[in-house]
Amino acid sequence: MIASFAIFLAMLLPASGSQEPDPHKESFGSTPDGKPVDVYTFTNAHRIEVRVINYGGIITALRVPDRNGKLDDIVLGFDNLAGYLNNKPYFGAIIGRYANRIANGKFSLDGRDYTLAKNNGPNSLHGGSRGFNNVLWRADPFRNRQGRGVILSYLSKDGEEGYPGNLDVKVTYTLSDANELLVDYLATADKATPINLTQHTYFNLGGEGNGDVLAEELRLNADRFTPIDKDLIPTGEIRLVKGTPLDFTQSTRIGARINDPYDQLLFAHGYDHNFVLKAAEGRLQLAARVHEPNRGRVLEVSTTQPGIQFYSANFLDGTLVGKHGHRYKQREAFCLETQHFPDSPNHANFPSTILRPGKTFHSRTVFKFSVQ
Ligand code: GLA
Repeated sequence: MIASFAIFLAMLLPASGSQEPDPHKESFGSTPDGKPVDVYTFTNAHRIEVRVINYGGIITALRVPDRNGKLDDIVLGFDNLAGYLNNKPYFGAIIGRYANRIANGKFSLDGRDYTLAKNNGPNSLHGGSRGFNNVLWRADPFRNRQGRGVILSYLSKDGEEGYPGNLDVKVTYTLSDANELLVDYLATADKATPINLTQHTYFNLGGEGNGDVLAEELRLNADRFTPIDKDLIPTGEIRLVKGTPLDFTQSTRIGARINDPYDQLLFAHGYDHNFVLKAAEGRLQLAARVHEPNRGRVLEVSTTQPGIQFYSANFLDGTLVGKHGHRYKQREAFCLETQHFPDSPNHANFPSTILRPGKTFHSRTVFKFSVQ
């Protein structure tokens, strides 16, 4: 009782140095059918600021200090809701029911064949034509001992985009005073269904709109990856990175080998690959570390998931107008999407993505910021 009163009081109190309660909510416009969209802003003790909207669970801004204490927004996005309503690159969004591709939009489960919405050539990408990135989530802001943030909830109905069963999903963003943004995913279903949830933020540690990320140095805790074909579908092979331009076991500039004539890079026009993480699924492990040498920002990504998609923003082509009028071009960001492997429902040798009734899916990803 006393504890909950203290939490209630804490929610009313302004964050240090600001007049606003933390988290605080403001209007971010409304959807074409008139539903209000809000933006939730929360800030930690070291001035890191996160903005999240309840449309798509999108992280619209992430302001992080550099080595001189200068704050920059390090994620790509749009200035207003209109941009996010037509968010082709999936800037900042929660992805589901199934992140990445399912070949030919088809899979079989327990003897039944399922057909999904195809929205990427012959394949289904990121949950179909109206994935979790394009729906309104219920949002509940909170503060607790770990930090402050927002809990997003969504009920994906039986049959939505072709997937079986009602799926109850909760995604919690928590910003801690240890400079971590924790993303916790929780899901239950009333029929067996494939599920693969991720977060599709485009990072540029030099600041969004500030040029390409080719000089940023990446280390991945993975000595294997899942090769793809020309439609970016895994072939089923699990290949060693050793001796290939996908070897990031030592910190290496993203641009060092990106134009090598290696079939995997040619298919994807750069990096767009699922890396197999070393530790067993379910254990929080450091998956990736990126260092931006000019401003000194470091991002570390830890996860309980078995894979991580490293995407070098190959499809950005300067046609979209983003924040502050910035036209984002190819390789002006990177994504590190923690996940299960793409197209797992069609590959028996990949870790299973099937969630069954009575079971709870839980995964955690932590984005930690520091300077070097
Ligand atoms: C993921 C995919 C890419 C691309 C982007 C969205 O990263 O792996 O191929 O579709 O999403 O543009």
